[in-house]
Amino acid sequence: MCGIVGYIGHRKAYPIVLKGLQRLEYRGYDSAGIAIFDGSDIKLSKTKGKVADLQDRLEKEIPTEGNLAFGHTRWATHGVPNDVNSHPHYSNSQNLAIIHNGIIENYGTLRQELIKRGYTFTSETDTEVLVNLIEEIKIKEGVKLGKAVQIALNEVVGAYAITVFDKERPHELVVARLGSPLAIGVGEEEFFIASDASPFIEYTKNAIYLEDGEMAIVSREKGVRIRKIKNDKQVAANVQELKMNLEQIEKGGYEHFMLKEIYEQPNAISDTFRGRMRPKSGIIKMAGIDDNFEKFKNAKRIIIIACGTSWHAGLVAEYIIEELVRTPVEVEYASEFRYRNPIIYPDDVVIAISQSGETADTMAAIKLAKKSGAFVFGVCNVVGSSISRETHAGAYTHAGPEIGVASTKAFTTQITVLVIMSLKLAKEKGTITHTEYHNYLQELDLIPEKVKEALTCNDHVKTVAAKYKEASNFLYLGRGYNFPVALEGALKLKEISYIHAEGYPAAEMKHGPIALIDEQMPVVVIATRKGHYEKVVSNIQEIKSRKGKIIGIVTKGDKAVKELADYVIEVPETSELLTPLLTTIPLQLLSYHIAVMLDKNVDQPRNLAKSVTVE
Ligand code: AGP
Ligand code: GLU
Repeated sequence: MCGIVGYIGHRKAYPIVLKGLQRLEYRGYDSAGIAIFDGSDIKLSKTKGKVADLQDRLEKEIPTEGNLAFGHTRWATHGVPNDVNSHPHYSNSQNLAIIHNGIIENYGTLRQELIKRGYTFTSETDTEVLVNLIEEIKIKEGVKLGKAVQIALNEVVGAYAITVFDKERPHELVVARLGSPLAIGVGEEEFFIASDASPFIEYTKNAIYLEDGEMAIVSREKGVRIRKIKNDKQVAANVQELKMNLEQIEKGGYEHFMLKEIYEQPNAISDTFRGRMRPKSGIIKMAGIDDNFEKFKNAKRIIIIACGTSWHAGLVAEYIIEELVRTPVEVEYASEFRYRNPIIYPDDVVIAISQSGETADTMAAIKLAKKSGAFVFGVCNVVGSSISRETHAGAYTHAGPEIGVASTKAFTTQITVLVIMSLKLAKEKGTITHTEYHNYLQELDLIPEKVKEALTCNDHVKTVAAKYKEASNFLYLGRGYNFPVALEGALKLKEISYIHAEGYPAAEMKHGPIALIDEQMPVVVIATRKGHYEKVVSNIQEIKSRKGKIIGIVTKGDKAVKELADYVIEVPETSELLTPLLTTIPLQLLSYHIAVMLDKNVDQPRNLAKSVTVE
């Protein structure tokens, strides 16, 4: 995710674009940059850091006059956050400039091709490849910018929302989108371009939302001309009058960032496996694993270190890795691991999981592991974060910024990365069959759609939330892969509604916790029709016989649990190993709706911080 903003019209463009970037900074805040056409040339200024840092630098570096400008706040995916990797990016001739939100999957191949044709690159980004591909096509085919963009995008695999400018055609901006959002604000002889309407809502409420696979040429004289990227078919502009206010727009129309991020999970999961997994050909590419395969292959043990939700993702990974890769796994709270003088062998592989990449306990545990000679692999969501730079190698979750303190899309994208890693290792080690490998890939590819389907339980979950929001305690139970999901569900409820909740392995009830059961106790039981299903049904019967209130998370069409439970919430069927990606959805929504009904501060719960950078 990132923020893109553009303006072409009769006003001074710079202040509009600068303020627009400030409005979009929540979408990504690694670096920022603005390009301004001053009547004869396109000048740009960009810097690592915030929009405020950009303003300080730009106003010293380039003239700010001009009626056309465009800018970008970056959430890095390819190339660490630094000045050079910031957008906008020039083409080699510096006649073209681009800003881009998304991921160009085949940028490596395209870059090699362009280098063969004499192009040079200053950044590590996929975006700089795209602007030079457009330039190469424009020159080679002798076409205008719009056509060159269209031809280039038909060669690109990935996701994008782009704005491209050619100083030889200073009266227009070319925009296009696939998989990333792009809105066009329509004013009086002026046009705005942005990732969402927040940068232009104060100037105009008339907006055109490009659809995926569409591009447009936006010019003061000719207005907005939209066409399909694939077949050049003209598309009528659908101008909508916006009803949302600024705050609603920043949250994508959702009441809270947490709810927005829960609903972003289908895209976040597909962005996380984008460019890494090709189900049809059965290829998995993950540089951090490819370059260090021997270490993983020869490891006698994998130690996972993390905190909070990331620790729960690590627990899920323990079941997955041991099932598929057959390497023993230990999962450690980083805060405990760092102080208990653990035994670490040089041939251990340590996996550190952290959304923020800044968690102090996890960082300290990583340093301890490195000191003992272990190989440390990071799974982070923030490119260039401290942990991602401290580990020997790693893989990023491409979840985009997670603003809500309660982790949601981080959890599911961490599991996605760990599943892909495990499948790749298992295939190379031969610990799963060819058929099993392909079946898992196919099933993982279906997960984004199945998460979308799981999200349709929202209204039903609201009913359950209303019923039990006054409870003082909750129990969450699960078995196997869903035991960590039970822990995660309990954490979600605790941290945003302040209701006490505990997660347990379902079978553990009879060893004490069942004494807690009475008719005041809601018990959430994950009972998908996979592994140990019958056993979980027996656990439910034990609870029912003690008058516990049962909320069953079940596979779509389940009957047995429906007979016993007070409420059931259905999720689609999938491989047992992938069920955590679906069963966590209703638990996220349950905690969210209870917290909202209790009027809690969902995005910034009391006592908590998004990133715990202190001990
Ligand atoms: C989870 O909802 C919390 N926000 C918290 O437990 C979090 O997962 C933990 O602090 C670890 O953060 P990290 O993933 O950024 O390292
Ligand atoms: N993939 C591009 C980069 O890493 C764009 C990332 C974004 O959407 O901000 O620069």
